Amino acid sequence: MTKISLSKPNISKKEINIINKSLKSGWLTHGPNNRIFEKNFSKLIKSKYSISMNSCTSALECALKVIEKKGEVIIPSWTWVSTANAVINTGNVPVFADVDTNSRNITAEYIKKKITKKTIAVIVVHYGGLPCQMKKILSLTKKHKLQLIEDSAETLGASCDKKLTGSFGNGCFSFFPTKNITTTEGGMFTTSNKAIFEKVKLIIAHGINKKLKKHFWHRQSSLAGHNFRLPNHLAALGVSQLKRLHRFNKKRRLIAKKYDKFLKSFSNIFEVQTINKNLSHSYQMYTCLVKKSEYRNKLLYYLKSKNIEASAHFDPPLHRQNYLKKYSNERLENTDNLSQKIISLPMYPDLKDREIQIIKKTIKQWCKKYVI
Ligand SMILES: Cc1ncc(COP(=O)(O)O)c(C=O)c1O
Repeated sequence: MTKISLSKPNISKKEINIINKSLKSGWLTHGPNNRIFEKNFSKLIKSKYSISMNSCTSALECALKVIEKKGEVIIPSWTWVSTANAVINTGNVPVFADVDTNSRNITAEYIKKKITKKTIAVIVVHYGGLPCQMKKILSLTKKHKLQLIEDSAETLGASCDKKLTGSFGNGCFSFFPTKNITTTEGGMFTTSNKAIFEKVKLIIAHGINKKLKKHFWHRQSSLAGHNFRLPNHLAALGVSQLKRLHRFNKKRRLIAKKYDKFLKSFSNIFEVQTINKNLSHSYQMYTCLVKKSEYRNKLLYYLKSKNIEASAHFDPPLHRQNYLKKYSNERLENTDNLSQKIISLPMYPDLKDREIQIIKKTIKQWCKKYVI
């Protein structure tokens, strides 16, 4: 029985050659391919500036470091730990908000409940490929003069009101192998603010400021920066992957449609996500809910026993993580509910029809054996 993976990157032979060619050029760190990758990314997102770097976590840290003040940062509890880690590692305090069950996304209503005098920023997380409803969020952050950061690690190429994520606030993207495109490890920061762009450029490369150079050997640093650079050969991979994004996402959407149709035929057991008309979905993950939480673990173990990788993103959510409990022990009803009922099924562009059939057959078997 061959294993069906939860996720699989697609790196073509042509891309291996592109990486080799870039390595042979001798330019092994940030280089000309980064410029191309950034230019193309900005063009796609319609943000004025893009800065490639080594991860989305680094991009999130940059987005927080450019804010002059320290304080509370509102984030959904329904996210990967890096969202909270970036907040803590930049000297801020994470404040966990609940999310909407169907979209799994934070909303203006949940953000509003958490705003205090200490709030400096909001990080929205576009979960699994589905953008948050940005209109109300934008007017709320504007009204309260809060920085808006988009954790778009899981969403590339999806839109809200025809605008792609990463163009509403300062955007942070991930190119980890499970994401919509990959550079192995890697990330991108997007902004339309020139001052923020210039500061992030300094942060990612030790703070070295070329404008302060008096002689060719001078390396004058203007802040305590990091080494967050993305190497040139990985940027070359990014350039190629970005060209393939549209095709990748098209395949993801087709697979999602097949899952939707199948799971709807078991509507007493599964709850299929509905997508609002003003949103498009890029299905970095395909998630559904089981109607009773006692089904969830049993089904996950059953799929595992049949060599099908499925998972639960995120269990536990942030406010249930031991090291984060000191920030809040509050019950977040929808988030707690999601963490007990959610299932992520295999999702990647190369998932074969034959494999989808096996997944469907196995789920059907489980339903018949244990539920119906
Ligand atoms: C919502 C979210 N934020 C941030 C990250 C971190 O991305 P990276 O691994 O590129 O640092 C991830 C990655 O899984 C994520 O899912």
